[in-house]
Amino acid sequence: MSFDKQTLEILRAALERMGQGFARLPEADDAASPDVEGVLAEVAERMRDNFPYHHPLYAGQMMKPPHAVARLAYALAMSLNPNNHALDGGRASSQMEKEAVAEIARMFGWETHLGHLVSGGTMANLEALWVAGQLAPGKKVLASEQAHYTHSRISGVLKLEFDAVPCDNRGRMDPGALEARLARGDVGTVVATMGTTATGSVDPLPEILTLRERHGFRLHADAAYGGYFTLADNLAPEGRRAYDRLGEADSIVIDPHKHGLQPYGCGCVLFRDPSVGRLYKHDSPYTYFTSGDLHLGEISLECSRPGAAAVALWATQRLLPLERGAEFAQSLSKCRSAALALYERLRADRRFLVAFTPELDIVIWAPRPAATGPRAARISECSELSRRLFAEAAKRNLHLALAQLPARFFALDSVKQDAGTLTCLRSVLMKPEHLAWLDRIWSILDQATSAIGSQTAKAGN
Ligand SMILES: Cc1ncc(COP(=O)(O)O)c(C=O)c1O
Repeated sequence: MSFDKQTLEILRAALERMGQGFARLPEADDAASPDVEGVLAEVAERMRDNFPYHHPLYAGQMMKPPHAVARLAYALAMSLNPNNHALDGGRASSQMEKEAVAEIARMFGWETHLGHLVSGGTMANLEALWVAGQLAPGKKVLASEQAHYTHSRISGVLKLEFDAVPCDNRGRMDPGALEARLARGDVGTVVATMGTTATGSVDPLPEILTLRERHGFRLHADAAYGGYFTLADNLAPEGRRAYDRLGEADSIVIDPHKHGLQPYGCGCVLFRDPSVGRLYKHDSPYTYFTSGDLHLGEISLECSRPGAAAVALWATQRLLPLERGAEFAQSLSKCRSAALALYERLRADRRFLVAFTPELDIVIWAPRPAATGPRAARISECSELSRRLFAEAAKRNLHLALAQLPARFFALDSVKQDAGTLTCLRSVLMKPEHLAWLDRIWSILDQATSAIGSQTAKAGN
């Protein structure tokens, strides 16, 4: 699969059109650049040292390239390089950010909100917990033990105490454990993860909301990876119930640079109650001059921010609206279908150990060691085989990921538990094309598994 070059002509035409808006200015020569072409050729060579994130045979980490319209709109905006800190630095792009963010808020049923773009999920969660911490000073933050690792670190940065809540065998926060923890009366904020990073598990939001009624905490939803799945039409009933209540959270984080088809550097934080904007109040003696309207810097922790990221997001949502049943929503459903299809094939094949049915588009599995005489296979052998399968698949151009997860997530049958965690294969099937490529993916996986089978036999000889 080659890289898209056809759309460069569209970019040229758009640059000319944008340039006409500044035609009244006297000509200013570009500074002569000695050898842009040579350096770019060098860059192209250097960039070949990468996994092929753009290709459907990359089925590893949570990575894929942005949509063409996002790339082009970003490149177009970069010729101006607006800064969305202030309207003075990016008038059009700030307005586009407000519109694009409002569309995301509407996807969760919020007609009013406070929100903006940030550099990514970590910064977005930091802002949400920073607000939560100010509203409940001295109280603790809870998130599940499968929540993104940055929640405990962010809490440390904010000097908020953090505790991890145990998960059930499907990687979701255990409401019983949460209730026991809440009974101590020292919790200010609970983070519900809508799609964990490792397994795509969705925390049981309806149960957590019931506990909020009883215990009165602030609820933050980390939907950095999973948020857009609210548009999918093929979630399991439990998952659907959780997504349908996402709008009841106090704050939501969602990353357009994960499932929203954007280049990196695009996260989003949303607050249900716009009045939390007061907590951001600050003076900036050098900005905010040309307009009395809201400057996005007045409601964000970061100062300079790329206007181009907002332009790219706006253009993408213009082309692919965030509507149920529409093309973008269908692409998310396809990702989940791909994950379910891979899971079913793995489950039906005795060579593999599987975990629970994927809730979103992440599948985890491990090779099952061949039984050698009366001695039972062990978890540590599964982990070793996973590492070998990862390498054998990569040799055949299929790129998977590895994850170290609680062994109890897996249907272990007769495998002996000589370790609490298992290193497994992990695939985020986040390209809708993965569905059509499943036969190819499976065929390579099959060959790679046969290869480690023979290696095991050899090692045992
Ligand atoms: C659930 C979740 N939250 C937060 C993050 C952190 O986001 P970022 O890498 O954009 O900072 C991730 C990243 O994968 C994530 O999956």
